[in-house]
Amino acid sequence: MAVDITLAPNAVVGEIDRRLFGTFVEHLGRGIYTGIYEPDHPTATPEGFRGDVLALVRELGVTTVRYPGGNFVSSYRWEDGVGPRTDRPRRLDLAWHTLETNEVGTNEFLAWCRAANLELMMAVNTGTRGTEAAVDLLEYCNHPGGTALSDLRRKHGVEEPHGIRMWCLGNEMDGPWQIGQMTPDQYGRSALDMARAMRRMDPDLTLVACGSSGRSMPTFGEWERVVLGHCYDEVDLISAHAYYELEDGDLRSFLASGADMSAFIEGVVAAADEVRAARSSDKRIDVSFDEWNVWYLSKAIGAGPRDWPVAPRLLEDVYTVVDAVVVGDLLATLLRHADRVKAASLAQLVNVIAPIMTEPGGPAWRQATFHPFSLTAAHAHPTVLRASVKGPTIDTAKHGTVDAVTVAATWDLDKQHTQFLANRDPNAPQEVILDLREFGSVEHAEAVGVYDDDLTAVNTANAPERVSPRLVETIVDSGAVKIRLPAASWVMLRAKTA
Ligand code: AHR
Repeated sequence: MAVDITLAPNAVVGEIDRRLFGTFVEHLGRGIYTGIYEPDHPTATPEGFRGDVLALVRELGVTTVRYPGGNFVSSYRWEDGVGPRTDRPRRLDLAWHTLETNEVGTNEFLAWCRAANLELMMAVNTGTRGTEAAVDLLEYCNHPGGTALSDLRRKHGVEEPHGIRMWCLGNEMDGPWQIGQMTPDQYGRSALDMARAMRRMDPDLTLVACGSSGRSMPTFGEWERVVLGHCYDEVDLISAHAYYELEDGDLRSFLASGADMSAFIEGVVAAADEVRAARSSDKRIDVSFDEWNVWYLSKAIGAGPRDWPVAPRLLEDVYTVVDAVVVGDLLATLLRHADRVKAASLAQLVNVIAPIMTEPGGPAWRQATFHPFSLTAAHAHPTVLRASVKGPTIDTAKHGTVDAVTVAATWDLDKQHTQFLANRDPNAPQEVILDLREFGSVEHAEAVGVYDDDLTAVNTANAPERVSPRLVETIVDSGAVKIRLPAASWVMLRAKTA
């Protein structure tokens, strides 16, 4: 049975906010040190950033970067990371049980963001600190001058304010692993105070309240309702985090992870809209999906260091073809919710559960998951269309019955189309007929994808291009395109109509 996908110009989901192609860098493992920063590396810039990594970050096409954590931020003192490097303290990082040298801090990271052409999404510490530290950091970063903290920044050699627009009010404050975990009432009240104070300095900031750190959290739903019950009028977005992994060889459930992400987004939106209705508010709170990825978390639990090393190899997952298919489908899921997901961060960027890997003093390379992300960021058109998909379903143990083929359809309101397709069936290819008749006749179509007979294939320092995008044949048939999606594949199909 073929899969029929029909698109029409008036079935619009919404416009893509380019902040949806964001990412995340945490002071964790080798994310910073020997990841983005390595002054002795042969490609190092005068500021000590790895030039090879900068080139790959630009190629990945990311737009924003969340920093400095993550769990790390919940005991971070931002003051440790500014001023002369020789004066910066070495501190125990309680989140990851490592030693933080503070060689890289706010100003260095912002210089790196400028070099990589990324917008910074700054997270503040709501674990061991609160409103005072947050407004101090805001003044240090964004105030032009003439005050204690803005002049301190200038004294530190940064004359112009950084102008950071996006601020996360803490990280995963619902999680028992989080330093300073709170109840939804405690966090909602403290987010309200913090947001109000920050807005006194700058009413136009984009503020993100912590949502649930997973759909399976026992407080999910209630957390969003109570937190937003406190701070609805003062924040713009509520966060969501989700990680997926292949467990017990259950490929069907793993390949259908996007179904869980979809249900999660819809749950967060429903909770936010419930608060909106209860307040008769005209304002809408959207979602910042600011941590998402494949992460072999079950292998990482309890495997952390005990002896406070500096920048150890932590969470360095090596991604397979099937992981890349899932990452592509998760990103397509975010696109399908472009009406309500207005920011997102692939977690993370370099070395730590990352699309880019490095060796100290050695090469940097693209993991398999790099490819669906970079192709989507480069080729997604601004408008997402609601597709009608008629085809076979597959039964999964974790997510029930799901469509075997998914699509995120993007269009530029002219004649250019890019579709991001996934075949979630691990055993069978799928014949797809993409009907574009509503747009006219198809002049041209081409496709590339990530697929392989060996679903466990990976890229390594020695074989950095083992998993790379491969051509997929397309057949143009007047107003339609026919394409065969290999089993367990992610495919980008581009077409032009006349
Ligand atoms: O991305 C790794 C960790 O996952 C982050 O520090 C934390 O926010 C989440 O639990």
